[in-house]
Amino acid sequence: MSLSYQEGRLFLGASGDLQEIMEGNEGHPCYVYDLNDIRSRYEKLCEALGGLQNLKVHYALKANGNPQVLQHFKSMGSCVDVVSAGEMTLALKNGFIAKDVIFSGVAKSVQEINAAIDAGIKQINVESPQELRRIGELAKAKGQSMLVALRMNPEVNPVTHPYITTGMSENKFGMDRSFIPELVRILKEFPESLKLRGLTMHIGSQLLDLDAMEEAIHKLRSIDHELEVLGFPTESLDIGGGVGIHYDSLDYEKDFSLIKDYGAMVEKSLKDYDGEVMIEPGRVLVGRAGVLLCQVEYIKRTPYKTFAIVNTGMHHLMRPALYQANHRILPLLKSEAAPQKIYDLVGPICESTDFLGKNRPMQELKQGDFLAICDAGAYGFSMANNYNHHALPQEIILD
Ligand code: LLP
Repeated sequence: MSLSYQEGRLFLGASGDLQEIMEGNEGHPCYVYDLNDIRSRYEKLCEALGGLQNLKVHYALKANGNPQVLQHFKSMGSCVDVVSAGEMTLALKNGFIAKDVIFSGVAKSVQEINAAIDAGIKQINVESPQELRRIGELAKAKGQSMLVALRMNPEVNPVTHPYITTGMSENKFGMDRSFIPELVRILKEFPESLKLRGLTMHIGSQLLDLDAMEEAIHKLRSIDHELEVLGFPTESLDIGGGVGIHYDSLDYEKDFSLIKDYGAMVEKSLKDYDGEVMIEPGRVLVGRAGVLLCQVEYIKRTPYKTFAIVNTGMHHLMRPALYQANHRILPLLKSEAAPQKIYDLVGPICESTDFLGKNRPMQELKQGDFLAICDAGAYGFSMANNYNHHALPQEIILD
């Protein structure tokens, strides 16, 4: 369902009349989320992977950490992937138990690792030999044993924006197979304090082509075999997140068919794996479920351009400035009669990177109009900041 016009008014889900919400909100920028959309995508993903006996979904909290969104994930049976002690605390405050939580991220501090050990989470995804040693030492000092998974860098070449690839040799994430002897040495040094649970990877985000992921899973399995031969059999393989959404299209079927293809590829690659298969999806579950609403403050015509200057910008949604992302932008009230014009939609921040869309054909806009920036449920509010001392946008939940 997600976004649709009903008698010229833009709705999110069946009942989210966005014009009404903005009028009630006096035009202040706000994110609106539709929990039903999240549910239907979560169910489609689980269905697509239904052939795997032992699947665990760990929602990547970084995509959207809204407390009600987190409670919703917990109620659907999802577990969670966090990348900081702050995210871990947020997850634990919103219904997840420690054994639902896995902890990824390249720079875990002593305090963060101690917090993870004390909480007794399911596993820490380890990014370097020094980190593995640090976990071993801290767990030993507490007389505890910590379950770890080794994050491998499968050195593949995913098709996505260069700023969101993580599985290439030049990226800071994970370890290639040449690290294995050193990792095994450290595991053997801490036999009581470090327990190898499995392997993990995450090759990049916003993937619409699954070939690199398939290749990466095959590489992960070969590393898994190598470890087994060395006397370290695993009980889980975590293939990360990464499945994208079709930002350029309102045709949600395209997303659903990608989810199906993903499920088929993962099942084919892992159906004979005996242990637990883990995934860490973020965007594919929440991206379409959110919009960022804003108001036109001014229309400014120069000899070169017409700017629609709105009351939100790169501080609320960084994706266009950071990754040249194209989010569709729709008026909340559609007018068939209005002429089409070309706009640059820009925000209040004192930076030329502060744009939401460039050269966009749109119905003629005027001061006071409300607009929706679409598909902003993932990495929208979670990356927002108050640069220039602007307030953060509100978050409104539709259920
Ligand atoms: N697991 C790990 C270890 C990750 O680093 C990420 C995302 C995910 C899972 C979830 O990936 P997803 O399924 O959402 O693709 N801010 C960027 C995206 C950065 C993704 C960072 N890692 C954007 O707005 O496109």
